Amino acid sequence: MDQESMLKQISLQKDEIEALYEETHAINNELTDYIKKLNDSQRELQEINQEISAMYTISKSINSSLNFNKLFLDIYRLLKSILDYDMLGILLLDDNKKFLQIKYWNGPDIDGLMDMEFYLDGEGVCALCAREKRPLLVKNINDFEGIIMIHKDIKQEMTAPLIYNNEIIGVFIVDTFKTNNFDSDKLATLCSFASLASTALYNAKLYSDLHSNYISTAKALAKAIEAKDISTKGHCDRVTDLSLRTAKHLAFSDERVKKIKIAAILHDIGKIGIPEHILNKPSSLTSEEYSIIKKHSTIGYEILSDISHLENERQIIYQHHERYDGKGYPLGLHGMDILTEAKILALADAFDAMTSARPYKETMTISEAIEEIKRKRGTQFDPEIASSFIEMVEKEFLK
Ligand SMILES: [Fe+2]
Ligand SMILES: [Fe+2]
Repeated sequence: MDQESMLKQISLQKDEIEALYEETHAINNELTDYIKKLNDSQRELQEINQEISAMYTISKSINSSLNFNKLFLDIYRLLKSILDYDMLGILLLDDNKKFLQIKYWNGPDIDGLMDMEFYLDGEGVCALCAREKRPLLVKNINDFEGIIMIHKDIKQEMTAPLIYNNEIIGVFIVDTFKTNNFDSDKLATLCSFASLASTALYNAKLYSDLHSNYISTAKALAKAIEAKDISTKGHCDRVTDLSLRTAKHLAFSDERVKKIKIAAILHDIGKIGIPEHILNKPSSLTSEEYSIIKKHSTIGYEILSDISHLENERQIIYQHHERYDGKGYPLGLHGMDILTEAKILALADAFDAMTSARPYKETMTISEAIEEIKRKRGTQFDPEIASSFIEMVEKEFLK
């Protein structure tokens, strides 16, 4: 082969190599693209998976909780696992359906925020969302007319209505300090989450309304007893306050605190069945009169027998005059057989009787009452509960 044809050959081969190189390069690019797409869809799948599992967890956890605080915390925690945001507000509609109020807030502290009332016929994203029962995505906060700017760093906002039985009960609001963070997919996620949470929030609201109804009925009944027994004015309130402080000092759960509250308010409800001339006798009682007064814990127990919701409270009331040494009434229960709540009530009851003015006896100072409780530790009072009670009184009333 002569030189010229050799050079031609080489140039041809070079072209071929270049073409091959180009091809390989293109395949390489395509492969990188594929890998990227694969990674993206894997990430997407992971996100969807996370979302589904969060939705599943929320439906499970929120449907088993009637406690607002726990529910709010679950909602925050689970929503955070599927959505990137900087502030979350859960707003509920007031009983007259006029305005929304923030019941849960997670974000920077904002002065007066929890007291703000967002009227449905007013301005702002939440009001519009509730009024029109539709979710809203504000891509750029400055573009929304009538925005209520609660924090200067908010860039985007999303709201989803909380609807139960076609009625609006509140809204979720989430804000981000980043631009281009929220989009229609994120809004859809928030909406599915909101619709799952609605039932749970509605149930928790019902339960809490029911509970406050109980409390107001119980308070009205307590007032009725105090109207009858004039010497014990304010007694139920003080016993309730002391019992609640002791329960908190002993780190009782919210549920137990609720129970002891109702039991304390109603502890002397049975006095309704005791003649007024005995309750209000200015001098000391005869043994027969005393045995009539002693019936009040059993009468209270019977009065509450038809209210199945208050079974625990009823037992506490029944035992509030039992003594640690078994010399109490009506059952003469001993030590561990007496409910802790009833022991707390007994201490609060005795402390209040010692420290408040009664016509037939001297009033003790707080320190004197503490000494008296110390003397009766192990006889009238459970030694451990009495020590906790004294600790609580010293901490909250003497310092
Ligand atoms: Fe009593
Ligand atoms: Fe009492």
